Amino acid sequence: MLREPLRKFLHRQIVDLKEAGCYRQMKLVDSAAGARVFLQGREVINFSSNNYLGLASSGFLKQAAAQALSGFGIGAGASRLVGGNFPPHEELEKKLANFKKTESALVFNCGYMANCGLISALCQREDLVFSDRLNHASIVDGVLLSRAKLVRYNHRDMEDLRRLLARHSGGRGKRLIVTDSLFSMDGDLAPLREIVDLAAEFEASVMVDEAHATGVLGEHGRGAVELFGLEGEIDIQMGTLSKALGAFGAYVAGDSLLIDFLINRARPFIFTTALPPPAVAAASMALDIVDNRPDLRDTLLRQAAWFRQKLQESGFNTLNSQTHIIPILVGDNERALSFSQKLLEAGIYAPAIRPPAVPRGGARLRISLIATHTLADLEEAADKIQRIGQELRLI
Ligand SMILES: Cc1ncc(COP(=O)(O)O)c(C=O)c1O
Repeated sequence: MLREPLRKFLHRQIVDLKEAGCYRQMKLVDSAAGARVFLQGREVINFSSNNYLGLASSGFLKQAAAQALSGFGIGAGASRLVGGNFPPHEELEKKLANFKKTESALVFNCGYMANCGLISALCQREDLVFSDRLNHASIVDGVLLSRAKLVRYNHRDMEDLRRLLARHSGGRGKRLIVTDSLFSMDGDLAPLREIVDLAAEFEASVMVDEAHATGVLGEHGRGAVELFGLEGEIDIQMGTLSKALGAFGAYVAGDSLLIDFLINRARPFIFTTALPPPAVAAASMALDIVDNRPDLRDTLLRQAAWFRQKLQESGFNTLNSQTHIIPILVGDNERALSFSQKLLEAGIYAPAIRPPAVPRGGARLRISLIATHTLADLEEAADKIQRIGQELRLI
């Protein structure tokens, strides 16, 4: 039962969201996240999943999870610092440190918690956090929790970052530059080399969020930090285990001193039950697969390049996407929704992304490719996207 002032508030909020074209509802996916899924009772080509390498339903991951399930059960039963630290957790952290070429790594329960925990532990009121305007919400929330000053620079704009670093130089607080490495809604890459150089010039530290790059970018799939040859030059790296790695959870990788500090100070690490051992064991197995199957990321990126070019040739604006995340910019919320809806009726699931997930006026379809999409899937999708785009006069 909701009492009156609260009921009124909630009702007003929902009405406002609907009027702004920003009301959201969940769709039921009735099969494993893959290249094709059953969505609300029918099979569609799926462009909505971050399961980029198709590992979420891999037999190897299931087997690893089943083994941990029989050894350690489902729930961890306590936080890591109390009684929830099992061999799969420690094994995964060793593998992650090795994977990211850092001294140490720490597993968090999800990327959202990792970003909030990291930034709120590291930064204080007198500190400055320089953050790309398109960084993920969990980074922004981490800064808000820390009470440090949030200084937002224009997306990938190094002149703007330099100007802001110079304007805010001379304070007594620490300075942290934070960026997604691969931007989740645009599919473009942060200029990490320039960021590292600016950090050196202005005595700032650098934190990189590799959520969408882990397992996909770089020769060994270690992320954009590897791709740009910056291993050993980034203070703090985080990423998720839930996207290309097909499992669940997140990691922070860096020096042992950083990890030791986070174990003692990151509240979303301390005050929560540890990840279930089966999920942790599955993530460990996924790292082995990333190591042994470079063909998966090669296929993904090759097919993404082909698909992006097809869309561009049809006249769509895919912004500066360089990766397996391909936006189709529409602009208006309602038009993006109706584009997505018409595609769904034609058997293609490409979700419409609206504010606040993207800037106002930046509504789009977000196409997220999976290595297991076939060329036939992609050809069918490209044709239907073009036809429906023309019908809606988007191209
Ligand atoms: C850039 C970025 N960082 C962090 C997260 C949060 O990760 P998780 O889903 O594991 O909470 C996401 C998306 O979910 C993301 O896109």
